[in-house]
Formats: sequence, C-alpha cells, structure tokens
Amino acid sequence: MTKLALREYPDPILHQKAQVVEKIDDALRTFLDDMLETMYLDHGVGLAAPQVGVSKRMIVIDAEQKDDEQTGLNKSGNPMFLINPEIIYHSEETIFYCEGCLSVPGQSADVERYQKIKVRYQDKSGAVKEIEAEDYLAVVLQHEIDHLDGILYIDHLSRLKRNMLLKKLEKSRAAKEQ
Ligand code: NI
Repeated sequence: MTKLALREYPDPILHQKAQVVEKIDDALRTFLDDMLETMYLDHGVGLAAPQVGVSKRMIVIDAEQKDDEQTGLNKSGNPMFLINPEIIYHSEETIFYCEGCLSVPGQSADVERYQKIKVRYQDKSGAVKEIEAEDYLAVVLQHEIDHLDGILYIDHLSRLKRNMLLKKLEKSRAAKEQ
C-alpha cells in the first residue's frame, strides 16, 4: 500500500470537474486501495480521487471505522468503493451536519444536506449498484460526490462564514510554519 499525498485548498484540482472513469482494471483497483489506506491514515471518513491529485470520478468511504487505541490508527469498519457515483434520488427534507474535510485541515462548519439519497455507482468489478443512505452516511456521500464536481463543503457556506473559515485556515497554517 502507498500513502498518497493530499491536496489542500486552494489547489486548483479541488475546483475541477472530475472525468468519468472508463476502464476499471487492476491498476485502478490498486489505486482505490491506496486511497482507502490514505483515508484511514489521515483519519478521514471519506476521500475523493481529486484530493490525492487524480481528477477522476471515484470515492472511498468508511462511515463505520473505529480508532484502534493501541496503534492510534483507524481500523476498517465498512469500506465502500464508489466509481462514477451519481445521486439519482434525494429527499425534500434536509439536515444540518458539522462537516470537515482533509483538504481544508483543522476546520469545520455546519452544512445543509439532503436527509436521504439514492446513489447509483459502479463497484470495483465494474458492476452497477445502487445504495440508499440517510443521515450521516447520506451526508458523507454528498460531501464526497461534491468533490467530483469541484465543490468543497465551504462552497455551501455564506460568503461571510466562508471568509471567516478561510482566515482561520490561513492563521493555523501560519502558526504551523513558525
Ligand atoms: Ni472533503
């Protein structure tokens, strides 16, 4: 397994629309495994390919992982690999959830999302699957699928809130450099 380098705001790849995955082969499956490993090592709940510098439509998620107290690493709970994911249904009802992102380190904010969604995607073998998700899993899926369209959670905030958050990000980066 290879730990992949994370791209952080304002890296332009995070603001690009990612390309459809045409060919699902062993090289792609290895890359997805590396994405999952990178996600666990960085204690993320989900990771989208553009966040590790590949502008293609694929995401990995594990909304049930647990911290291993002995190693301090995150243990696999229910890893999911979604290639070319698409939201094909969403509820009218929305919920607010406090979100963070590995590409906007150390920050978080409340974001409004659909409470329930249905997603169509291809699995690692290329088979077309559908998943229904609500609440937390629905939030994570919407956050990661947004990444494939070049949208970060901070883009859902008001200009005022986004600017405040970005100022805090700048300050924390400056503090780290000292
Ligand atoms: Ni994110």
